[in-house]
Amino acid sequence: MPKDPSRLRSHRWLGTEGLRSFGHRSRLLQIGYDRADFAGKPVVGIVNTWSDANPCHVHLRTRADEVKRGVWQAGGFPLELPALSLSENLMKPTTMLYRNLLAMETEELIRSQPIDGVVLLGGCDKTIPALLMGAISAAVPAVVVPAGPMLRGNWRGDVLGSGTDSWKYWDEKRAGTITEDDWHEIEGGIARSFGTCMTMGTAATMMSIVEALGFMLPGASSIPAADSAHARMATAAGRRIVEMIRDDLTPDRIISPDSVDNAIVAHAGLGGSTNAVIHLVAIARRAGIPLTIDRFDEIARRVPVIADVRPSGRLLMEDFYYAGGMRAFLNRLSEHLNLGCTTVTGRTLGDDIAGARVWKDDVIRALDDPVSPVGGVAVLRGNIAPDGAVIKPTAAEPRLLKHRGPVLAFDSYEDMAAAVDRDDLDVTPDHVLVLKNAGPQGGPGMPEWGMLPIPLKLVKAGVRDMVRISDARMSGTSYGACILHVAPEAYVGGPFAFVRTGDVIELDVAARRLHLDITGEELARRRAAWKQPPPRTERGYGAIFAQHVSQADAGCDFDVLGPGPQLLEPEIH
Ligand code: FES
Repeated sequence: MPKDPSRLRSHRWLGTEGLRSFGHRSRLLQIGYDRADFAGKPVVGIVNTWSDANPCHVHLRTRADEVKRGVWQAGGFPLELPALSLSENLMKPTTMLYRNLLAMETEELIRSQPIDGVVLLGGCDKTIPALLMGAISAAVPAVVVPAGPMLRGNWRGDVLGSGTDSWKYWDEKRAGTITEDDWHEIEGGIARSFGTCMTMGTAATMMSIVEALGFMLPGASSIPAADSAHARMATAAGRRIVEMIRDDLTPDRIISPDSVDNAIVAHAGLGGSTNAVIHLVAIARRAGIPLTIDRFDEIARRVPVIADVRPSGRLLMEDFYYAGGMRAFLNRLSEHLNLGCTTVTGRTLGDDIAGARVWKDDVIRALDDPVSPVGGVAVLRGNIAPDGAVIKPTAAEPRLLKHRGPVLAFDSYEDMAAAVDRDDLDVTPDHVLVLKNAGPQGGPGMPEWGMLPIPLKLVKAGVRDMVRISDARMSGTSYGACILHVAPEAYVGGPFAFVRTGDVIELDVAARRLHLDITGEELARRRAAWKQPPPRTERGYGAIFAQHVSQADAGCDFDVLGPGPQLLEPEIH
Protein backbone atom coordinates (compact mmCIF):
# COMPACT_ATOMS: atom_id res chain seq x y z
CA MET A 1 0.00 0.00 0.00
CA PRO A 2 1.45 3.40 -0.95
CA LYS A 3 2.06 5.63 2.01
CA ASP A 4 -0.82 7.90 3.01
CA PRO A 5 0.23 11.59 2.70
CA SER A 6 -0.56 12.12 6.39
CA ARG A 7 2.21 9.59 7.21
CA LEU A 8 4.86 11.46 5.27
CA ARG A 9 7.61 12.89 7.40
CA SER A 10 7.01 16.30 5.80
CA HIS A 11 3.38 16.28 6.93
CA ARG A 12 4.43 17.55 10.38
CA TRP A 13 5.91 20.64 8.74
CA LEU A 14 3.46 21.27 5.92
CA GLY A 15 0.25 19.31 6.38
CA THR A 16 -0.97 20.20 9.87
CA GLU A 17 -2.92 23.19 11.14
CA GLY A 18 -1.31 25.66 13.48
CA LEU A 19 1.03 28.60 13.58
CA ARG A 20 4.23 26.77 12.62
CA SER A 21 2.72 25.00 9.59
CA PHE A 22 1.24 28.32 8.52
CA GLY A 23 4.75 29.79 8.66
CA HIS A 24 6.32 26.90 6.73
CA ARG A 25 3.71 27.04 3.98
CA SER A 26 3.73 30.81 3.72
CA ARG A 27 7.49 30.74 3.14
CA LEU A 28 7.13 28.21 0.33
CA LEU A 29 4.54 30.55 -1.19
CA GLN A 30 7.16 33.29 -0.78
CA ILE A 31 9.39 31.36 -3.22
CA GLY A 32 6.54 31.42 -5.72
CA TYR A 33 5.26 27.88 -5.24
CA ASP A 34 1.54 27.25 -5.16
CA ARG A 35 -0.07 25.05 -2.49
CA ALA A 36 -0.82 22.63 -5.32
CA ASP A 37 2.93 22.23 -5.85
CA PHE A 38 3.51 20.61 -2.47
CA ALA A 39 0.24 19.83 -0.65
CA GLY A 40 0.18 16.14 0.25
CA LYS A 41 3.19 15.37 -1.95
CA PRO A 42 6.41 13.59 -0.98
CA VAL A 43 9.16 16.17 -0.48
CA VAL A 44 12.38 15.08 -2.19
CA GLY A 45 15.68 16.57 -1.04
CA ILE A 46 18.24 16.73 -3.82
CA VAL A 47 21.51 16.83 -1.93
CA ASN A 48 23.85 18.40 -4.44
CA THR A 49 27.64 18.55 -4.15
CA TRP A 50 27.99 20.84 -7.16
CA SER A 51 30.70 23.48 -6.81
CA ASP A 52 32.76 25.71 -9.08
CA ALA A 53 35.72 24.34 -7.13
CA ASN A 54 34.94 20.73 -8.05
CA PRO A 55 35.75 20.06 -11.73
CA CYS A 56 34.27 16.55 -11.50
CA HIS A 57 30.87 17.91 -10.51
CA VAL A 58 30.37 20.95 -12.76
CA HIS A 59 27.42 19.26 -14.52
CA LEU A 60 25.59 18.46 -11.29
CA ARG A 61 23.86 21.84 -11.30
CA THR A 62 22.15 20.80 -14.55
CA ARG A 63 21.61 17.27 -13.32
CA ALA A 64 19.76 18.59 -10.27
CA ASP A 65 17.27 20.24 -12.66
CA GLU A 66 16.93 16.95 -14.49
CA VAL A 67 16.25 15.14 -11.20
CA LYS A 68 13.63 17.79 -10.38
CA ARG A 69 11.91 17.14 -13.69
CA GLY A 70 11.54 13.49 -12.72
CA VAL A 71 10.26 14.36 -9.26
CA TRP A 72 7.59 16.66 -10.72
CA GLN A 73 6.66 14.00 -13.28
CA ALA A 74 5.98 11.48 -10.50
CA GLY A 75 3.99 13.87 -8.33
CA GLY A 76 6.65 14.84 -5.79
CA PHE A 77 7.94 18.19 -4.63
CA PRO A 78 11.72 18.72 -5.10
CA LEU A 79 13.92 20.88 -2.90
CA GLU A 80 17.59 21.22 -3.84
CA LEU A 81 19.95 21.20 -0.85
CA PRO A 82 23.51 22.38 -1.58
CA ALA A 83 26.11 20.46 0.40
CA LEU A 84 29.85 20.58 0.94
CA SER A 85 31.66 19.57 -2.25
CA LEU A 86 34.79 17.46 -1.79
CA SER A 87 37.07 17.99 -4.75
CA GLU A 88 39.75 15.34 -4.70
CA ASN A 89 41.75 17.56 -6.93
CA LEU A 90 41.74 20.98 -5.28
CA MET A 91 40.97 20.29 -1.62
CA LYS A 92 43.99 20.00 0.74
CA PRO A 93 45.48 18.36 2.67
CA THR A 94 42.99 15.62 1.79
CA THR A 95 39.25 15.24 1.24
CA MET A 96 39.32 12.33 3.68
CA LEU A 97 39.54 14.93 6.42
CA TYR A 98 36.10 16.14 5.33
CA ARG A 99 34.25 12.92 4.40
CA ASN A 100 32.70 12.66 7.85
CA LEU A 101 31.80 16.36 7.80
CA LEU A 102 29.80 15.87 4.59
CA ALA A 103 28.23 12.74 6.07
CA MET A 104 27.13 14.71 9.13
CA GLU A 105 25.90 17.56 6.97
CA THR A 106 23.83 15.19 4.85
CA GLU A 107 22.30 13.54 7.90
CA GLU A 108 21.43 16.84 9.53
CA LEU A 109 20.16 18.48 6.33
CA ILE A 110 17.65 15.66 6.14
CA ARG A 111 16.81 15.44 9.81
CA SER A 112 16.24 19.14 10.39
CA GLN A 113 14.03 19.75 7.36
CA PRO A 114 10.76 18.40 5.89
CA ILE A 115 12.46 15.80 3.71
CA ASP A 116 10.78 12.48 2.94
CA GLY A 117 13.53 11.02 0.75
CA VAL A 118 16.70 12.08 -0.99
CA VAL A 119 18.49 11.94 -4.30
CA LEU A 120 22.22 12.12 -3.62
CA LEU A 121 24.36 13.81 -6.29
CA GLY A 122 28.06 13.05 -6.01
CA GLY A 123 30.91 11.12 -7.55
CA CYS A 124 34.34 12.56 -6.77
CA ASP A 125 35.96 10.07 -4.41
CA LYS A 126 34.66 10.79 -0.90
CA THR A 127 31.32 12.29 -1.88
CA ILE A 128 29.29 9.14 -2.48
CA PRO A 129 30.44 7.39 0.70
CA ALA A 130 29.75 10.53 2.70
CA LEU A 131 26.31 11.13 1.19
CA LEU A 132 25.29 7.52 1.66
CA MET A 133 26.58 7.33 5.22
CA GLY A 134 24.48 10.40 6.06
CA ALA A 135 21.36 9.09 4.34
CA ILE A 136 21.65 5.68 6.04
CA SER A 137 21.87 7.38 9.41
CA ALA A 138 18.93 9.67 8.59
CA ALA A 139 16.98 6.53 7.59
CA VAL A 140 14.94 8.03 4.74
CA PRO A 141 14.63 6.52 1.24
CA ALA A 142 17.68 7.42 -0.83
CA VAL A 143 18.88 6.92 -4.38
CA VAL A 144 22.33 7.92 -5.61
CA VAL A 145 22.84 9.76 -8.90
CA PRO A 146 26.54 9.26 -9.67
CA ALA A 147 28.44 12.03 -11.43
CA GLY A 148 29.74 9.49 -13.94
CA PRO A 149 33.23 9.20 -15.42
CA MET A 150 34.69 11.81 -17.77
CA LEU A 151 35.67 10.99 -21.36
CA ARG A 152 38.99 9.31 -22.20
CA GLY A 153 42.07 11.52 -22.20
CA ASN A 154 44.06 12.05 -25.37
CA TRP A 155 47.69 12.94 -26.17
CA ARG A 156 48.93 12.76 -29.74
CA GLY A 157 46.43 10.02 -30.48
CA ASP A 158 47.31 7.98 -27.40
CA VAL A 159 44.74 7.44 -24.67
CA LEU A 160 45.45 9.07 -21.30
CA GLY A 161 43.97 7.89 -18.00
CA SER A 162 43.32 10.11 -14.96
CA GLY A 163 45.96 9.87 -12.30
CA THR A 164 47.56 6.75 -13.68
CA ASP A 165 49.15 8.60 -16.59
CA SER A 166 49.94 11.64 -14.44
CA TRP A 167 52.14 9.48 -12.22
CA LYS A 168 53.61 7.66 -15.19
CA TYR A 169 54.57 10.76 -17.20
CA TRP A 170 55.75 12.60 -14.08
CA ASP A 171 58.35 9.88 -13.62
CA GLU A 172 59.23 10.11 -17.35
CA LYS A 173 59.69 13.86 -16.95
CA ARG A 174 61.84 13.32 -13.83
CA ALA A 175 63.90 10.82 -15.79
CA GLY A 176 64.26 13.32 -18.67
CA THR A 177 62.53 11.13 -21.27
CA ILE A 178 59.80 13.70 -22.07
CA THR A 179 60.15 17.48 -22.39
CA GLU A 180 58.49 20.35 -20.54
CA ASP A 181 56.39 21.04 -23.65
CA ASP A 182 55.25 17.41 -23.78
CA TRP A 183 54.25 17.68 -20.15
CA HIS A 184 52.12 20.80 -20.82
CA GLU A 185 50.41 19.10 -23.76
CA ILE A 186 49.52 16.18 -21.49
CA GLU A 187 48.11 18.67 -18.97
CA GLY A 188 45.66 19.89 -21.61
CA GLY A 189 44.63 16.43 -22.79
CA ILE A 190 44.21 14.37 -19.66
CA ALA A 191 40.84 15.79 -18.50
CA ARG A 192 38.65 16.48 -21.55
CA SER A 193 35.13 16.71 -20.09
CA PHE A 194 33.21 17.07 -16.86
CA GLY A 195 32.84 13.94 -14.75
CA THR A 196 35.03 11.95 -12.41
CA CYS A 197 38.39 10.31 -13.06
CA MET A 198 37.83 7.69 -15.75
CA THR A 199 40.29 5.08 -14.52
CA MET A 200 39.15 2.58 -11.88
CA GLY A 201 40.12 5.04 -9.18
CA THR A 202 38.18 5.60 -6.01
CA ALA A 203 35.37 7.51 -7.74
CA ALA A 204 34.65 4.86 -10.37
CA THR A 205 35.06 2.14 -7.75
CA MET A 206 32.65 3.74 -5.28
CA MET A 207 30.09 4.54 -7.97
CA SER A 208 30.22 0.94 -9.16
CA ILE A 209 30.12 -0.83 -5.81
CA VAL A 210 27.31 1.40 -4.51
CA GLU A 211 25.30 0.29 -7.53
CA ALA A 212 26.07 -3.33 -6.60
CA LEU A 213 25.04 -2.49 -3.02
CA GLY A 214 21.62 -1.55 -4.42
CA PHE A 215 21.50 2.24 -4.13
CA MET A 216 21.50 3.23 -7.84
CA LEU A 217 19.31 2.64 -10.82
CA PRO A 218 20.63 -0.35 -12.81
CA GLY A 219 23.57 0.59 -15.01
CA ALA A 220 23.78 4.17 -13.68
CA SER A 221 27.33 4.00 -12.37
CA SER A 222 29.15 3.51 -15.66
CA ILE A 223 27.32 6.03 -17.88
CA PRO A 224 29.87 8.65 -18.98
CA ALA A 225 29.03 12.05 -17.50
CA ALA A 226 28.87 13.69 -20.92
CA ASP A 227 26.52 11.08 -22.45
CA SER A 228 22.87 12.16 -22.85
CA ALA A 229 21.88 8.89 -21.18
CA HIS A 230 23.33 10.39 -18.01
CA ALA A 231 20.75 13.19 -17.99
CA ARG A 232 17.94 10.71 -18.59
CA MET A 233 19.21 8.55 -15.74
CA ALA A 234 19.03 11.59 -13.43
CA THR A 235 15.40 12.22 -14.42
CA ALA A 236 14.54 8.56 -13.91
CA ALA A 237 16.07 8.73 -10.43
CA GLY A 238 13.81 11.71 -9.68
CA ARG A 239 10.77 9.69 -10.67
CA ARG A 240 11.93 6.65 -8.75
CA ILE A 241 12.56 8.36 -5.42
CA VAL A 242 8.92 9.50 -5.28
CA GLU A 243 7.80 5.89 -5.64
CA MET A 244 10.36 4.77 -3.07
CA ILE A 245 8.95 7.25 -0.55
CA ARG A 246 5.41 6.06 -1.21
CA ASP A 247 6.60 2.45 -0.76
CA ASP A 248 8.67 3.28 2.34
CA LEU A 249 11.75 1.72 0.73
CA THR A 250 14.19 2.90 3.40
CA PRO A 251 17.96 2.11 3.36
CA ASP A 252 17.61 -0.67 5.95
CA ARG A 253 15.52 -2.61 3.41
CA ILE A 254 18.38 -2.38 0.88
CA ILE A 255 21.62 -2.72 2.80
CA SER A 256 22.27 -6.09 4.45
CA PRO A 257 25.26 -8.39 4.98
CA ASP A 258 24.40 -10.02 1.64
CA SER A 259 24.23 -6.74 -0.29
CA VAL A 260 27.50 -5.63 1.33
CA ASP A 261 29.04 -8.87 0.07
CA ASN A 262 27.73 -8.00 -3.41
CA ALA A 263 29.58 -4.69 -3.20
CA ILE A 264 32.77 -6.51 -2.18
CA VAL A 265 32.38 -9.03 -5.00
CA ALA A 266 32.03 -6.12 -7.44
CA HIS A 267 35.09 -4.49 -5.87
CA ALA A 268 37.12 -7.65 -6.40
CA GLY A 269 35.96 -8.11 -9.99
CA LEU A 270 36.75 -4.50 -10.81
CA GLY A 271 40.21 -4.53 -9.25
CA GLY A 272 38.84 -1.58 -7.27
CA SER A 273 40.53 1.14 -5.27
CA THR A 274 42.02 0.37 -1.86
CA ASN A 275 40.16 3.41 -0.51
CA ALA A 276 36.88 1.59 -1.02
CA VAL A 277 37.85 -0.78 1.79
CA ILE A 278 37.72 2.08 4.28
CA HIS A 279 34.54 3.59 2.85
CA LEU A 280 32.54 0.37 2.64
CA VAL A 281 33.46 -0.56 6.21
CA ALA A 282 32.17 2.86 7.31
CA ILE A 283 28.97 2.58 5.23
CA ALA A 284 28.19 -0.92 6.51
CA ARG A 285 28.86 0.00 10.12
CA ARG A 286 26.46 2.96 9.82
CA ALA A 287 23.83 0.33 9.04
CA GLY A 288 24.87 -1.79 12.02
CA ILE A 289 26.67 -4.40 9.90
CA PRO A 290 30.01 -5.25 11.59
CA LEU A 291 32.05 -5.51 8.40
CA THR A 292 35.80 -6.12 8.80
CA ILE A 293 38.56 -5.68 6.22
CA ASP A 294 39.18 -9.45 6.22
CA ARG A 295 35.96 -9.93 4.27
CA PHE A 296 37.61 -8.15 1.31
CA ASP A 297 40.49 -10.61 1.43
CA GLU A 298 38.18 -13.64 1.71
CA ILE A 299 36.12 -12.60 -1.29
CA ALA A 300 39.09 -11.43 -3.38
CA ARG A 301 40.62 -14.91 -3.10
CA ARG A 302 37.70 -16.44 -5.03
CA VAL A 303 36.58 -13.63 -7.37
CA PRO A 304 38.79 -12.82 -10.37
CA VAL A 305 39.44 -9.34 -11.73
CA ILE A 306 37.46 -9.26 -14.98
CA ALA A 307 37.29 -5.51 -15.70
CA ASP A 308 40.27 -4.67 -17.89
CA VAL A 309 40.42 -1.09 -16.63
CA ARG A 310 43.46 0.84 -15.40
CA PRO A 311 45.33 0.74 -13.10
CA SER A 312 44.84 -3.05 -12.80
CA GLY A 313 44.08 -3.41 -16.52
CA ARG A 314 44.55 -1.57 -19.81
CA LEU A 315 41.40 0.42 -20.60
CA LEU A 316 39.10 3.11 -19.22
CA MET A 317 35.53 3.55 -17.94
CA GLU A 318 34.29 4.73 -21.33
CA ASP A 319 35.38 1.37 -22.78
CA PHE A 320 33.71 -0.40 -19.85
CA TYR A 321 30.42 1.37 -20.64
CA TYR A 322 30.52 0.49 -24.34
CA ALA A 323 31.29 -3.12 -23.40
CA GLY A 324 27.97 -3.34 -21.58
CA GLY A 325 28.64 -1.38 -18.39
CA MET A 326 27.84 -2.30 -14.83
CA ARG A 327 24.76 -4.45 -15.51
CA ALA A 328 26.68 -6.67 -17.91
CA PHE A 329 29.66 -6.81 -15.54
CA LEU A 330 27.43 -7.88 -12.62
CA ASN A 331 25.62 -10.37 -14.79
CA ARG A 332 28.95 -11.96 -15.62
CA LEU A 333 29.74 -12.21 -11.90
CA SER A 334 26.27 -13.45 -11.01
CA GLU A 335 27.42 -16.84 -9.68
CA HIS A 336 29.29 -14.92 -6.93
CA LEU A 337 26.42 -12.54 -6.08
CA ASN A 338 23.43 -12.69 -3.75
CA LEU A 339 20.85 -12.08 -6.45
CA GLY A 340 17.89 -11.88 -4.07
CA CYS A 341 18.94 -8.56 -2.52
CA THR A 342 16.48 -5.68 -2.92
CA THR A 343 17.66 -2.55 -4.73
CA VAL A 344 16.25 0.94 -5.14
CA THR A 345 14.14 -0.37 -8.01
CA GLY A 346 12.11 -2.34 -5.49
CA ARG A 347 13.07 -5.48 -7.39
CA THR A 348 15.97 -7.83 -6.77
CA LEU A 349 19.52 -7.40 -8.03
CA GLY A 350 18.93 -10.52 -10.11
CA ASP A 351 15.93 -8.86 -11.79
CA ASP A 352 17.93 -5.67 -12.41
CA ILE A 353 20.75 -7.39 -14.25
CA ALA A 354 18.79 -10.14 -16.00
CA GLY A 355 19.58 -10.33 -19.71
CA ALA A 356 22.43 -7.80 -19.60
CA ARG A 357 25.07 -8.84 -22.11
CA VAL A 358 28.76 -8.13 -22.52
CA TRP A 359 29.48 -6.72 -25.98
CA LYS A 360 33.26 -6.68 -25.77
CA ASP A 361 34.93 -9.64 -24.07
CA ASP A 362 38.31 -7.95 -24.19
CA VAL A 363 37.03 -5.25 -21.81
CA ILE A 364 34.77 -7.20 -19.46
CA ARG A 365 36.55 -10.52 -19.55
CA ALA A 366 35.14 -14.00 -19.08
CA LEU A 367 35.53 -15.58 -15.63
CA ASP A 368 37.87 -18.18 -17.14
CA ASP A 369 39.94 -15.55 -18.96
CA PRO A 370 40.42 -12.89 -16.29
CA VAL A 371 42.82 -9.97 -15.95
CA SER A 372 43.90 -11.64 -12.71
CA PRO A 373 42.65 -14.91 -11.22
CA VAL A 374 42.17 -13.28 -7.81
CA GLY A 375 40.60 -9.98 -6.81
CA GLY A 376 42.22 -6.66 -6.26
CA VAL A 377 42.93 -6.35 -2.53
CA ALA A 378 44.92 -8.45 -0.07
CA VAL A 379 44.91 -7.84 3.68
CA LEU A 380 48.29 -8.25 5.36
CA ARG A 381 49.09 -8.66 9.04
CA GLY A 382 52.25 -8.87 11.10
CA ASN A 383 54.11 -7.41 14.02
CA ILE A 384 53.97 -3.87 12.56
CA ALA A 385 50.34 -4.12 11.42
CA PRO A 386 48.45 -6.19 14.01
CA ASP A 387 45.11 -4.70 12.90
CA GLY A 388 45.92 -5.06 9.23
CA ALA A 389 47.20 -3.27 6.15
CA VAL A 390 46.14 -3.55 2.51
CA ILE A 391 47.88 -3.94 -0.83
CA LYS A 392 46.54 -4.07 -4.38
CA PRO A 393 48.69 -6.88 -5.80
CA THR A 394 47.34 -6.46 -9.34
CA ALA A 395 48.80 -2.96 -9.51
CA ALA A 396 52.30 -4.00 -8.34
CA GLU A 397 55.29 -5.54 -10.13
CA PRO A 398 54.82 -9.27 -9.34
CA ARG A 399 58.49 -9.78 -8.37
CA LEU A 400 57.93 -7.49 -5.36
CA LEU A 401 55.05 -9.45 -3.86
CA LYS A 402 57.59 -11.57 -1.98
CA HIS A 403 60.42 -9.40 -0.85
CA ARG A 404 62.91 -8.89 1.95
CA GLY A 405 64.79 -5.63 2.12
CA PRO A 406 66.41 -2.94 4.27
CA VAL A 407 64.24 -0.09 5.51
CA LEU A 408 64.56 3.57 4.64
CA ALA A 409 62.15 5.23 7.06
CA PHE A 410 60.71 8.75 7.22
CA ASP A 411 58.85 10.24 10.17
CA SER A 412 56.94 12.76 8.07
CA TYR A 413 56.10 13.62 4.49
CA GLU A 414 58.34 16.68 4.73
CA ASP A 415 61.33 14.52 5.72
CA MET A 416 60.68 12.22 2.80
CA ALA A 417 60.20 15.04 0.29
CA ALA A 418 63.48 16.66 1.38
CA ALA A 419 65.41 13.42 0.87
CA VAL A 420 63.92 11.68 -2.09
CA ASP A 421 65.59 13.67 -4.88
CA ARG A 422 69.06 13.76 -3.31
CA ASP A 423 71.80 12.18 -5.41
CA ASP A 424 73.61 10.97 -2.28
CA LEU A 425 70.59 9.22 -0.78
CA ASP A 426 71.65 5.79 0.47
CA VAL A 427 69.01 3.73 -1.31
CA THR A 428 68.86 0.71 -3.62
CA PRO A 429 65.98 -0.86 -5.57
CA ASP A 430 65.76 -3.49 -2.81
CA HIS A 431 65.08 -0.93 -0.09
CA VAL A 432 61.65 -0.75 1.54
CA LEU A 433 60.50 2.86 1.81
CA VAL A 434 58.50 3.60 4.98
CA LEU A 435 56.41 6.69 5.74
CA LYS A 436 55.01 7.10 9.26
CA ASN A 437 52.60 9.56 10.92
CA ALA A 438 50.35 9.91 7.87
CA GLY A 439 47.35 8.02 9.25
CA PRO A 440 43.84 9.06 10.32
CA GLN A 441 45.01 11.07 13.37
CA GLY A 442 48.61 11.70 12.40
CA GLY A 443 47.92 13.10 8.92
CA PRO A 444 45.40 14.13 10.03
CA GLY A 445 42.90 12.68 7.61
CA MET A 446 45.11 9.94 6.18
CA PRO A 447 46.26 11.75 3.03
CA GLU A 448 46.97 9.95 -0.24
CA TRP A 449 50.73 9.91 0.30
CA GLY A 450 51.04 6.12 0.18
CA MET A 451 52.50 5.90 -3.33
CA LEU A 452 55.81 7.27 -2.08
CA PRO A 453 57.89 8.68 -4.93
CA ILE A 454 60.68 6.45 -6.18
CA PRO A 455 63.97 8.21 -5.27
CA LEU A 456 65.22 10.23 -8.25
CA LYS A 457 68.53 8.41 -8.61
CA LEU A 458 66.62 5.12 -8.98
CA VAL A 459 64.10 6.63 -11.42
CA LYS A 460 67.01 7.73 -13.59
CA ALA A 461 68.35 4.18 -13.42
CA GLY A 462 65.04 2.86 -14.75
CA VAL A 463 63.42 1.71 -11.48
CA ARG A 464 59.62 2.15 -11.59
CA ASP A 465 58.42 0.14 -8.59
CA MET A 466 59.63 -0.56 -5.05
CA VAL A 467 58.05 -1.84 -1.85
CA ARG A 468 56.59 1.12 0.02
CA ILE A 469 54.74 1.00 3.35
CA SER A 470 52.73 3.69 5.12
CA ASP A 471 49.76 4.33 7.37
CA ALA A 472 48.46 6.68 4.65
CA ARG A 473 46.13 5.89 1.75
CA MET A 474 46.89 6.16 -1.95
CA SER A 475 44.81 7.37 -4.84
CA GLY A 476 42.78 4.67 -6.51
CA THR A 477 44.45 5.68 -9.76
CA SER A 478 47.91 4.94 -8.31
CA TYR A 479 49.90 1.78 -8.71
CA GLY A 480 52.94 0.03 -7.35
CA ALA A 481 53.90 -2.29 -4.50
CA CYS A 482 52.41 0.08 -1.93
CA ILE A 483 51.26 -1.30 1.42
CA LEU A 484 48.71 1.07 2.89
CA HIS A 485 46.40 1.73 5.86
CA VAL A 486 48.77 0.17 8.42
CA ALA A 487 46.75 -0.11 11.63
CA PRO A 488 47.12 1.02 14.29
CA GLU A 489 48.83 4.06 12.79
CA ALA A 490 52.23 5.29 13.97
CA TYR A 491 50.90 8.52 15.48
CA VAL A 492 48.89 6.67 18.15
CA GLY A 493 51.82 4.44 19.06
CA GLY A 494 51.05 1.44 16.89
CA PRO A 495 54.13 -0.77 16.44
CA PHE A 496 54.59 0.74 12.96
CA ALA A 497 55.92 3.80 14.85
CA PHE A 498 58.98 1.80 15.90
CA VAL A 499 60.29 0.97 12.41
CA ARG A 500 63.71 2.53 11.81
CA THR A 501 66.10 3.00 8.91
CA GLY A 502 68.40 -0.01 8.71
CA ASP A 503 65.80 -2.52 9.96
CA VAL A 504 64.77 -5.34 7.65
CA ILE A 505 61.18 -5.95 6.54
CA GLU A 506 59.78 -9.13 5.00
CA LEU A 507 56.75 -9.04 2.74
CA ASP A 508 54.96 -12.15 1.57
CA VAL A 509 51.64 -11.29 -0.05
CA ALA A 510 50.72 -14.92 -0.76
CA ALA A 511 51.10 -15.66 2.97
CA ARG A 512 49.48 -12.28 3.84
CA ARG A 513 52.53 -11.51 5.99
CA LEU A 514 54.26 -8.22 6.78
CA HIS A 515 57.03 -8.64 9.31
CA LEU A 516 59.66 -6.39 10.89
CA ASP A 517 62.69 -8.54 11.56
CA ILE A 518 63.49 -7.54 15.16
CA THR A 519 63.06 -9.33 18.48
CA GLY A 520 60.10 -8.84 20.78
CA GLU A 521 62.48 -7.41 23.40
CA GLU A 522 63.79 -4.79 20.98
CA LEU A 523 60.23 -3.89 19.97
CA ALA A 524 59.35 -3.45 23.66
CA ARG A 525 62.44 -1.24 24.20
CA ARG A 526 61.44 0.99 21.32
CA ARG A 527 57.86 1.16 22.58
CA ALA A 528 59.05 2.33 26.00
CA ALA A 529 61.21 5.06 24.43
CA TRP A 530 58.51 6.29 22.00
CA LYS A 531 57.03 9.80 22.32
CA GLN A 532 53.96 10.91 20.41
CA PRO A 533 54.74 13.65 17.86
CA PRO A 534 53.00 16.98 18.44
CA PRO A 535 49.57 17.30 16.77
CA ARG A 536 49.47 19.09 13.42
CA THR A 537 46.42 21.08 14.46
CA GLU A 538 44.86 21.85 17.81
CA ARG A 539 41.93 23.99 16.79
CA GLY A 540 38.67 23.82 14.92
CA TYR A 541 37.44 20.97 12.83
CA GLY A 542 40.90 19.39 12.50
CA ALA A 543 41.09 18.99 16.28
CA ILE A 544 37.55 17.55 16.45
CA PHE A 545 38.44 15.14 13.64
CA ALA A 546 41.58 13.87 15.37
CA GLN A 547 39.68 13.39 18.64
CA HIS A 548 36.88 11.29 17.18
CA VAL A 549 38.18 9.47 14.09
CA SER A 550 38.61 5.70 14.23
CA GLN A 551 41.48 3.71 12.73
CA ALA A 552 41.55 2.65 9.08
CA ASP A 553 40.41 -0.92 9.75
CA ALA A 554 37.28 0.49 11.43
CA GLY A 555 36.43 2.79 8.51
CA CYS A 556 37.72 6.13 9.87
CA ASP A 557 34.23 7.13 10.97
CA PHE A 558 33.67 9.27 14.07
CA ASP A 559 33.04 7.43 17.33
CA VAL A 560 29.89 9.55 17.82
CA LEU A 561 28.42 8.52 14.45
CA GLY A 562 28.03 4.78 14.92
CA PRO A 563 24.75 2.97 14.26
CA GLY A 564 23.44 3.59 17.80
CA PRO A 565 19.82 4.54 18.48
CA GLN A 566 18.36 6.91 15.90
CA LEU A 567 17.92 10.45 17.17
CA LEU A 568 14.37 11.56 17.71
CA GLU A 569 12.70 13.60 15.01
CA PRO A 570 13.10 17.33 15.72
CA GLU A 571 10.41 18.95 17.78
CA ILE A 572 8.32 21.55 15.99
CA HIS A 573 7.09 24.14 18.46
FE1 FES B 1 37.35 13.91 -8.84
FE2 FES B 1 39.30 12.04 -9.42
S1 FES B 1 39.53 14.18 -8.98
S2 FES B 1 37.16 11.81 -9.19
